[in-house]
Amino acid sequence: MGNRIVMGNSLLFISFFIFSFSFLEAQKAPAVYVFGDSLVDVGNNNYLSLSIEKAILPHYGIDFPTKKPTGRFSNGKNAADLIAENLGLPTSPPYLSLVSKVHNNNKKNVSFLGGVNFASGGAGIFNASDKGFRLYNNGAKKFEIAGVGAIGCCPAYRVKNKTECVSEANDLSVKYNEALQSMLKEWQLENKDISYSYFDTYAAIQDLVHNPASYGFANVKAACCGLGELNAQIPCLPISSICSNRKDHIFWDAFHPTEAAARIFVDEIFNGPSKYISPINMEQLLAI
Ligand SMILES: *[C@@H]1O[C@H](CO)[C@@H](O)[C@H](O)[C@H]1NC(C)=O
Ligand SMILES: *[C@@H]1O[C@H](CO)[C@@H](O)[C@H](O)[C@H]1NC(C)=O
Ligand SMILES: *[C@@H]1O[C@H](CO)[C@@H](O)[C@H](O)[C@H]1NC(C)=O
Repeated sequence: MGNRIVMGNSLLFISFFIFSFSFLEAQKAPAVYVFGDSLVDVGNNNYLSLSIEKAILPHYGIDFPTKKPTGRFSNGKNAADLIAENLGLPTSPPYLSLVSKVHNNNKKNVSFLGGVNFASGGAGIFNASDKGFRLYNNGAKKFEIAGVGAIGCCPAYRVKNKTECVSEANDLSVKYNEALQSMLKEWQLENKDISYSYFDTYAAIQDLVHNPASYGFANVKAACCGLGELNAQIPCLPISSICSNRKDHIFWDAFHPTEAAARIFVDEIFNGPSKYISPINMEQLLAI
């Protein structure tokens, strides 16, 4: 199966914002495998009949090429789309769309070799589920992992603290990221054949929040879609107001970034300096 890269990124909430990718690499990467939560869910949750966490109503997808809600928790493309785009690949299909084809007998021979997206909005990390899977033992040797973002700075938290970031939530992100980074270092010492690249989502978001103008952003506090203070007291629903310029907002809804913000993170993942991505960036990881 060649070299594989696994990438994980959690932007804000562990449960909302963790994602990872793995690549089967031939050229740059022939296929993308995505693991994570709503940051990179491209429609898995649409297949979960009991989940209420679904991006299926307007105004989700308003800037997506189809202009329709697709299950992405964004106004447009999310990081899974943008990573694939940077690699010149189509977005990997949701795992549940592939298995539902099998179940419905529409297509008996579904191939996973073109990439699969396993991300599901609301996903978390479970110790028990790594036994006999996770990915190293099946050949994954390259990992792109990203830490948790500044959870306390998302609009849903800011409304709880007079529109300022909630320190306690941010402190938890910092602690999580420290533990994650030491785990990665230890893991590489134990397994000399792996390579990884770590994206400091927390630092990347903090820089957007503190220097918005240098990235073309005007509003770092409010959600674009929602209602109430900071558009964060009532979720993004068909009745919600939406901002007219989705390119100058970091946040699309109370938790999730706009496509514009996701593009900046993905650019930093690929080409960023070591203050955001270390010990190597994704271009360098792909080149190994
Ligand atoms: C299923 O797909 C694989 C990969 O595309 C192909 O090699 C194989 O021949 C197919 N099998 C059948 C029964 O069509
Ligand atoms: C998860 O697994 C690690 C490593 O095996 C262990 O140290 C830790 O206590 C476990 N945590 C929980 C909540 O089970
Ligand atoms: C609220 O914001 C202020 C200003 O950033 C900060 O000092 C304070 O710790 C925050 N309060 C909480 C509860 O997070």
